[in-house]
Amino acid sequence: MLSRDFLTLEGVGREELREVISLARTHADGRLSHPLDGKTVCLAFFESSTRTAVSFDLAARRCGADVISLSEKGSSISKGESLIDTVVTLDRLGADALVLRHPAAGASMLAARHTEAAVINAGDGCGQHPTQALLDLYALSEAVGGFDELEGRRVAIAGDILHSRVARSVIPAFRAAGMDLAIVAPLTLLPQEADAWGVPILDSVDGALEWGADVVYLLRLQNERMNGRSPRVPSVGEYARFYGVARRHLRDGLLVMHPGPVNRGVEIAGDVVLDGASLVPGQVAAGIAVRSAVLTLATGATHEVAA
Ligand code: NCD
Repeated sequence: MLSRDFLTLEGVGREELREVISLARTHADGRLSHPLDGKTVCLAFFESSTRTAVSFDLAARRCGADVISLSEKGSSISKGESLIDTVVTLDRLGADALVLRHPAAGASMLAARHTEAAVINAGDGCGQHPTQALLDLYALSEAVGGFDELEGRRVAIAGDILHSRVARSVIPAFRAAGMDLAIVAPLTLLPQEADAWGVPILDSVDGALEWGADVVYLLRLQNERMNGRSPRVPSVGEYARFYGVARRHLRDGLLVMHPGPVNRGVEIAGDVVLDGASLVPGQVAAGIAVRSAVLTLATGATHEVAA
């Protein structure tokens, strides 16, 4: 089996991105019929998820795979079984792909060392979330008229960068697609490595619009990752004023993105979520085609279909 892991987008190249986006288009057009026939996909979600879990499940089933779903509650993880033993068990039961969401950064890398199955990182703590960034690229390329049209667009990524695995995947992916990036965040929500990204760091969404943003990509204030420490913003209202998008920010051609789940009224005003400027519903919809593409590439099924 020609399997391929999807663990991180650090170091991803433009052509690799193009391959996934164009295969996703093929899936969306219904031009691949049951490429995962005979394959077993295990969805192991050891942290909450709505859109990622549902879209992987639908993608795998529509591609014809047998699907096994595991969560912490109801699996032997709750009896104290280790991640490695769980992964080895799923491997021996014949999983061809393991889609893993886990609260610890690096969990997917660890899993990949203990199985022949292709491991797809569906979000690991504050680490990476590669399929989110891939579906964002897909949704954005559909909105602007194709992958090559992404080149030179200005994207401001705003919010809780410190705790965001989405940011850590979106930044290298958007950059590899040729887009210009800026970060919009208070210093308390920036990781130390932000300096090394070599992107402008702006202090408000208004500042991002002055910088010439074509897209504002918002991130959720991830309270659950703040480990009960003292709040990193003085008040949610003040945070929303500087780092959230409101209707007054909308202007011709500006696109607003958010991976969800959304804190309405914090990083994005309630009346902007479903506005014509918002790609949020399109991002969700892109999940099935992109995750179908990732599953077929990960399991080597594309090559088998082409052969
Ligand atoms: C993100 C996640 O879980 O990392 N959501 C998602 O997968 N669509 C972002 C978030 O939780 O804020």
